[in-house]
Amino acid sequence: MVTIKVRQNGPYLVDGDEVTLVDWNGNVYEIPKRPFVLCRCGGSQSKPFCDGTHSRKGFAAAEAAVPRSGDRPAT
Ligand code: FES
Repeated sequence: MVTIKVRQNGPYLVDGDEVTLVDWNGNVYEIPKRPFVLCRCGGSQSKPFCDGTHSRKGFAAAEAAVPRSGDRPAT
């Protein structure tokens, strides 16, 4: 099972042994440790991974799941 946790004002935390991260060409990123974090703020110098820049630039995100709200992913 894979879990992707949206961290408050931070990155996506990806937890699971069966995850493969690929770029738009299908090339596989080497993942040095698990779980790993993916940049959500756009400021990382080591994208797609988070390097902690979000903390220094004060990244603030408002998204949170609202149970039974009917939220659906964009199509
Ligand atoms: S979310 Fe951490 S550097 Fe972007």
